[in-house]
Amino acid sequence: MADPLDPLRTEFDQWARQGRGEGMADAHRAVTEIILDMMDLRPDSRALDLGCGTGWATRLLARRMPQGFAAGLDVSGEMIRLARADGANPPNVEFQVLDAARYPFPDGGFTHCLSIESLYYHSDLVATFGEVHRVLAPGGAGYFMVNFFTENPYTHRWAGLIDVPVQLLSGDEYGELARAGGFARCRHETIPDPTPVPDEYTPRHYESREAMKASRAIGSLLVVAGK
Ligand SMILES: C[S@@+](CC[C@H](N)C(=O)[O-])C[C@H]1O[C@@H](n2cnc3c(N)ncnc32)[C@H](O)[C@@H]1O
Repeated sequence: MADPLDPLRTEFDQWARQGRGEGMADAHRAVTEIILDMMDLRPDSRALDLGCGTGWATRLLARRMPQGFAAGLDVSGEMIRLARADGANPPNVEFQVLDAARYPFPDGGFTHCLSIESLYYHSDLVATFGEVHRVLAPGGAGYFMVNFFTENPYTHRWAGLIDVPVQLLSGDEYGELARAGGFARCRHETIPDPTPVPDEYTPRHYESREAMKASRAIGSLLVVAGK
């Protein structure tokens, strides 16, 4: 029987082979740095990076927690192969090919979870939030960022550019799903994206340079769920 995750693996294995992992690092880094500053990370924190791609954000986490550790998981074997092979990996990172809906990390093993631009690909978000809730220690928190969401109309066209199903959800809907996954305390906000808009832009992910600029002014949706 075909595994329902196979199309996702195929899509993101291909992105990895095409070198699109590095492009995502460039596109997502500025907002991610803002989120990392909000996370109240301690030198001995333990963080999970959900849908880590090539692991650049996992490495940023690990460097902020030199006595702790960061674990990156991703459903794409090619993304994880690139993440593991990166010469800049500090000693306190690990990467595993896993589905966000179920993984073998122990209950309460993490203090923080970060997820950058991954959630809208997850078919069972109650399961995704439920697993994060399970592996967070009491007092821990998950920080989930997406750029494709209801309140940013400039990114809605991405649904037609991607070969796998995506879910277009609002901040309130993500909050409801996080609550269904067990989180009692949820909030959301948008973070304007300070990434510079290039002088020249060939329309693809955005309809025009103006649309890219307007999208970045709205910014990214951040859902914070506390245990
Ligand atoms: C747009 S990429 C973002 C990657 C990385 N966070 C970044 O910003 O560079 C989305 C990632 O989520 C992963 N992903 C999607 N669904 C997943 C799932 N159910 N479990 C684990 N990873 C998943 C994909 O394989 C892909 O690497």
